[in-house]
Amino acid sequence: MAFEKNILCIGAGYVGGPTMAMIAYKCPQYRVTAVDINPERINQWNSDQLPIYEPGLDKVVQACRGKNLFFDTDLEQGIKEADIIFVSVNTPTKTFGAGSGMAADLQYWEKTARQIRDYAESPKIVVEKSTLPVKTSLAMERILTNDSDQIYFDVLSNPEFLAEGTAIHDLEEPDRVLIGSHETESGLEARETLVEIYANWVPREKIITTNLWSSELSKLAANAFLAQRISSINAISALCEKTEADVSEVARAIGMDSRVGVKFLRAGVGFGGSCFKKDILNLVYLCRSYGLNEVADYWEGVVRINDYQKDRFVLSMLNAMFNTLAGKKICLFGFAFKADTGDTRESPGIFIARELAEEKAELVITDPEALSNARIDLADLGEQVDYVEDPYEAAEGSHAVAILTEWGLYRDLDYERIYASMVKPAFLFDGRNVADHQRLFEMGFNVFPIGKAPLTHY
Ligand SMILES: NC(=O)c1ccc[n+]([C@@H]2O[C@H](COP(=O)([O-])OP(=O)(O)OC[C@H]3O[C@@H](n4cnc5c(N)ncnc54)[C@H](O)[C@@H]3O)[C@@H](O)[C@H]2O)c1
Repeated sequence: MAFEKNILCIGAGYVGGPTMAMIAYKCPQYRVTAVDINPERINQWNSDQLPIYEPGLDKVVQACRGKNLFFDTDLEQGIKEADIIFVSVNTPTKTFGAGSGMAADLQYWEKTARQIRDYAESPKIVVEKSTLPVKTSLAMERILTNDSDQIYFDVLSNPEFLAEGTAIHDLEEPDRVLIGSHETESGLEARETLVEIYANWVPREKIITTNLWSSELSKLAANAFLAQRISSINAISALCEKTEADVSEVARAIGMDSRVGVKFLRAGVGFGGSCFKKDILNLVYLCRSYGLNEVADYWEGVVRINDYQKDRFVLSMLNAMFNTLAGKKICLFGFAFKADTGDTRESPGIFIARELAEEKAELVITDPEALSNARIDLADLGEQVDYVEDPYEAAEGSHAVAILTEWGLYRDLDYERIYASMVKPAFLFDGRNVADHQRLFEMGFNVFPIGKAPLTHY
């Protein structure tokens, strides 16, 4: 069958893989290919063990892989054949040179721009899917057009707003799709081509269009706003713990104001994930580079509160457990940065495990999806950490359990059984406020929620 369009995505990671799978699923008339420099990742995409865990992803991939969805390592061929190229490579925080620890590391992104220029033999639409500093598309255009061949490229910005754990739902029914373009004749035409692709399944009124710079900035700003809400409620949780106010009650009272809204007001052990911190720091760096130091300080505070929240959690464990954790067995329930993903990038669990290890605690980590990543993250801690699939086995003989990920299963465990198997006095630190604290207390646990008074037997 002849396909209407050839769509290529460079970078088959958490964003590129699911996004391309959804386009292929919804648009059988297009041939969709995701390429990656990592052959192992491509092999996994072509196997029954996909490289990432996302509810519903298997079904979507299985429905179209080999029909109109392909995973490959042949970047050159992919570029030659494509009409539209999405760039979805990683843009981590720079760890060297100017802007180290703050600015986005654009080396992977720039490499792809050069590869597109070198291999393309016909005009293309190039779509920035990665999250990038404002004005990056200008640099992209400069690289692409700096050649004697004079092949014409239109550059669009189409940031991805999916959240890990709900990626398939978010892709299937997005709150909005954002497309930024130049407002020239050719820019608007390219924009319409991309609108047409999404319009195969997204209602037109949810596809919004802006200029390039607004689109690039909106992604950074959206993540900054989301993270800010978490830091706001976490900051209030610290005050609740000092004043016997209850953060869940406060959050409910605040969230019922329709101007504020109820979502994303759950206090916890701090946000993680590959994006929030990196994107805020990127925003902070940008603001500073434009001389907007007050704006930069404001957003930097969001990250500072997040670090403070993780610190506070460990200190409260230490404090509650008689100021010594040395030789005590502590079981961490959950290591993924949130429920329904195996991703552990920037997970609070990494920081907390390391701090507890510093205190010479013996750690046992359990998580339904993230244990293989946890093993890699904490490899240097060696025998100080055990990784156990079964939560009952993991908690056996421990002095404390700390819930770090809001997996539904941690709500419904048989805590009587867990309590019976633990060293007494038994402690439970609920870093996600998911357990039934009163019940646990009545069983005998000393319970330490976030942003609420502890329930202790002494
Ligand atoms: N993870 C999320 O939830 C999320 C959500 C929205 C936006 N984003 C943004 O999307 C972008 C990608 O994020 P991700 O989480 O998918 O990253 P990822 O690390 O999972 O995937 C990126 C992939 O790009 C590949 N790659 C790098 N250079 C390449 C090249 N030259 N040619 C081919 N492949 C190459 C890497 O091997 C990797 O597999 C980032 O800018 C991120 O900020 C991520």
